[in-house]
Amino acid sequence: MHTQVGIIGAGPAGLFLGQLLDRAGISSVILESRSREAVESTIRAGVLEHWVVELMTELGIGERMHREAHFHDGITLQWEQQRYHLDVTELTDGKRVAVYPQHEVLKDLIAARLADQSETIFGVSEAAFHGVDTETPSITFRREGMGELETLRCDYVIGADGFHGPGRQMIPKSLRREYQKIYSFGWLGILTQAPQSWPELIYANQAQGFALLSTRSPDVQRMYIQCDPADDIANWSDARIWEQLHERLETDDDWSLTEGPIFQKGIIPLRSFVCEPMQYGRLFIAGDAAHIVPPTGAKGLNLAVADSVVLARALEAQFRHNNHALLDAYTNTCLRRVWKGERFAWFMTTMLHRADGDGDFEQRMQMADLDLIRTSRATATSIAENYIGLPFD
Ligand code: FAD
Ligand code: PHB
Repeated sequence: MHTQVGIIGAGPAGLFLGQLLDRAGISSVILESRSREAVESTIRAGVLEHWVVELMTELGIGERMHREAHFHDGITLQWEQQRYHLDVTELTDGKRVAVYPQHEVLKDLIAARLADQSETIFGVSEAAFHGVDTETPSITFRREGMGELETLRCDYVIGADGFHGPGRQMIPKSLRREYQKIYSFGWLGILTQAPQSWPELIYANQAQGFALLSTRSPDVQRMYIQCDPADDIANWSDARIWEQLHERLETDDDWSLTEGPIFQKGIIPLRSFVCEPMQYGRLFIAGDAAHIVPPTGAKGLNLAVADSVVLARALEAQFRHNNHALLDAYTNTCLRRVWKGERFAWFMTTMLHRADGDGDFEQRMQMADLDLIRTSRATATSIAENYIGLPFD
């Protein structure tokens, strides 16, 4: 079996890359360890930057998103009993973000890939890269229920395989530099069957810790509270979760949060991580395989798609014009933008959470940052530009 580009991972990075390569007439095969059902139902990110909405439209996969997404003109920042509407659209010449869940994006991408008859093999095991520093790299894998290992011969191989996948490990340790920050807090996320309580996302800095109010559909809402990342979800009864959400999201006006049955809950740790380089020989890594952000800036999914755009352009230049300059520049091109996403996610996280060891000084810094956003148009514009998605160089 041969393909031009062999990809491990059917997440946002792998599936966007596959779609972009299809449009450029370049063949690809995507190998994914989970079932299609699992990929299409795992709850993760929610916010699409302005240019990702445009990209989905250009690729012909935006129809359902335009019908079902919530398009938001701004976000609400909340601290010390006050709410501030950051008018992202006004500050960025009319741009808006879309609240459209990651698994819905993946459903649209998988449907398009099936229609194009490009191959995606779900449920594979033992996927492994070989010969990545040669001109004939390959991936071996086992199909679900099959006895023997198969070999996929490729011109280029891609690790779009998330933080725990095998891709990054193929870059020799002696060449790899990893930057990491682990936060002292995590997020407890819930899905609840309830109507929308507030027309936009609320990011709240509160004495008990951060809270975020988001949405999924007119009758399903997504909410998060800062918690101990090592805590057991069994310690969080629905009543305790609602008590904390009310405490952290309500102010002293008469607005109140609407409750509903909680049908999914879980705790995630928060981490910032960057791997340098993002290439070794004919292997390229993209998305969470190369970098992780804490979710406070809503950047993880968007950074993954950005890598795929850079990589697709570079592979097209190579296959069409035998020009490898863009492939050679892949790490630098991606990381220039990635580090800005890392900075924004870290800044939003630091401004909005109560970290272990933080004292009165750190809290005053947070209040000063939030007050600057409220009173300085230049500061507000910077936040809005980062939230909506920075331009590509
Ligand atoms: P992934 O989505 O992780 O996709 C990688 C794929 O590779 C997976 O499907 C995996 O099964 C597959 N894979 C891995 N190893 C192998 C193997 N050996 N063989 C075959 N297949 C393999 N970001 C936000 O912006 N906002 C959020 O609210 C948010 N919430 C999150 C919640 C959770 C629990 C997690 C884990 C992440 C969250 N993120 C959030 C981050 C965002 O979802 C990721 O940045 C995004 O999914 C990255 O896409 P990716 O394609 O790089 O990686
Ligand atoms: C979400 O809806 O899951 C979401 C929204 C904004 C974030 C993070 C997560 O910053």
